[in-house]
Parts: sequence; structure tokens; C-alpha cells
Amino acid sequence: MRVLVTGAAGQLGRDLVAELDRLRTVEVTGAGRKDLDVSDRDMVMTAVNGLRPDVIVHAAAWTAVDGCETDPERAFKVNSLGTRNIAEAARFFGSHVCYVSTDYVFDGRAGRAYVEWDQPNPLSVYGRSKLGGELELDPGSTVVRTSWVCGAHGSNIVRTVLELASRGQTLRFVDDQWGCPTFTPGLASKITLLALERRAGVYHVTHQGPTSWYGFVQAILEAAGQPVSLVQPIKTAELDPPRPAPRPAYSVLDNAAMRLSGLELLPEWHEPLGDLVKALKG
Ligand SMILES: NC(=O)c1ccc[n+]([C@@H]2O[C@H](COP(=O)([O-])OP(=O)(O)OC[C@H]3O[C@@H](n4cnc5c(N)ncnc54)[C@H](OP(=O)(O)O)[C@@H]3O)[C@@H](O)[C@H]2O)c1
Repeated sequence: MRVLVTGAAGQLGRDLVAELDRLRTVEVTGAGRKDLDVSDRDMVMTAVNGLRPDVIVHAAAWTAVDGCETDPERAFKVNSLGTRNIAEAARFFGSHVCYVSTDYVFDGRAGRAYVEWDQPNPLSVYGRSKLGGELELDPGSTVVRTSWVCGAHGSNIVRTVLELASRGQTLRFVDDQWGCPTFTPGLASKITLLALERRAGVYHVTHQGPTSWYGFVQAILEAAGQPVSLVQPIKTAELDPPRPAPRPAYSVLDNAAMRLSGLELLPEWHEPLGDLVKALKG
């Protein structure tokens, strides 16, 4: 089986390629932005024609949430049109698409965890552009929505907090935005399973257990052996300057489709956080 991974230089993309590589039955090609700019239709058509992948795991995206808010043209070009290009090439050459999407497609106002069949209503340009990507896909495609992704190979909150804490800096993080932290090794293994089985439809895939950014940072400090008192809770309204993009207040994803399909869920998030902290400090 041949598999193409887009966004392969990103934090999730790198662990996806590693996970697929481990399976001896799969021939994996990881393409970063330089090899495969998904917003370039000709480039996508040529690459997919050349590789003829059975499965395309489409992890490429412009993920700078505040950047997207100030440059919507680029956000829609990469995240929505780029996914249109992938879907079109896949349709033409007979590949199955697995698209990685986000909890930010929801407005976070439900006050409960979202199931796959809830109505999206993104608050930000990033969320709208990623939902735009979902809308480009053929019905048989796989969509994996995830949240608060952290891995060893990218910039993320765990890396940031470790750097700031090592300088003894006091941190302020919001306690009124809630979600589920998700770590790339576990996420990559679930995406691989769903993609290779060509499961149709939307799956929420996160580690288990809701927390706020403040609660998450407390846990990161604890795992790193730093004083938890280094972080102070604030409200989103107190952020100075305010972030350009609005975020959902409660975008916890219920992994309902996996659970109801009898698939094993990713575990609670504290243990994989400990593993990542160890890897980053090591
Ligand atoms: N990070 C999160 O918290 C989070 C949460 C939910 C869902 N997701 C989704 O998970 C997926 C992976 O995200 P990630 O955390 O691994 O982010 P990431 O580290 O930013 O990886 C995304 C990769 O896509 C590449 N890319 C950007 N524009 C591209 C283009 N036009 N053509 C091809 N590649 C392009 C980026 O390259 P450059 O760096 O060179 O621009 C980057 O290597 C994305 O689809 C994202 O929307 C992420």
C-alpha cells in the first residue's frame, strides 16, 4: 500500500511518517511544503499522478490561528482550497483521503463535549477555513478532528512553557478556555488506523480528560519538576493585547464515533504529557 502524507515537516506530519514507516506493509512518502504546496493545483495533480497513493493523509495546514485571522486570503487558500486540490487529485487518481481537522470548527457554546454529529459553527477564520476543507471532501473520506496537539518536533505549549519556566518567568494562562490535550504519537497511531482502514466519516480523536489552558500549564510544570505557582490564572478578557482570533470556550471533543464503533480510545493525557516533557528535557 502506498501512502502520501502532506505537511510531513510539521509536528504531526513527522510522527505520522514515522508511524507509517514502522508498518512494513506501507510505502510512505512524506511531502513538506517545499515538495508539495497543497495550494498549487498543478503541483498537487503532478505529485499524486506520479505517486498514485492508495491513501493520502492530509495533515498540511496553515495552523497559525491569529495569523489566519489577519490574513484570511492565505488561510482559505491553504486550508480550504488546498484541501479542494487534494480531494480533486484523489478523486481523479482513486486515492482515499484522510483529512486532519480541528475542534475550532465548533463555537464552544454548548457547555458540553461535542459529538461528531453536532453542527459546526467556527468563531475564527482558521476554524472557518478548516471547516471549508471538510466541506471539499467526498462522502467516503475520513475526517479526524483533534485538539491542542503537542509533539516532540514542533512549537507547542509544552515546549513554550518549559522554555519560559527554565528562566523562572511567571506565566499567565487563561482558565476559561477548555479542551483536550492530544499528543502526536498516539494521535498518529489512531489516524493511521482510520486512514488505512478507509473509515468513512468524521472521527474525534483526542486524549481523554478536559482541562483549561491554565490547568494544562500547571500539569506541564508539575511534570517538569517546576513550582506550579509559576503560573497564574487569567480570563480571556484580561489578555493584553487581546488575541486577534476568538477561541471556543469549551471545545472538548467526545470521541463518540470511535467509542460507538468499539475502537479503543487514546488514554487520559497526563501520562503522554510526562513522556513528552521527558523527551523535550532529555
Ligand atoms: N496544532 C494544533 O493544536 C492542532 C489542533 C487541531 C488540529 N490540528 C490540525 O492538525 C494538522 C497538523 O498540525 P500541526 O500541529 O502538525 O501543525 P504544523 O506543525 O504547523 O504542521 C503543518 C504543516 O503544514 C505545512 N504547510 C503550511 N502551508 C502549506 C502548504 N501550502 N502546502 C503544504 N504544506 C503546508 C507547514 O509548513 P510550514 O511550517 O513550512 O508553513 C507545516 O509543516 C493540521 O491540519 C492542523 O489544522 C492542529
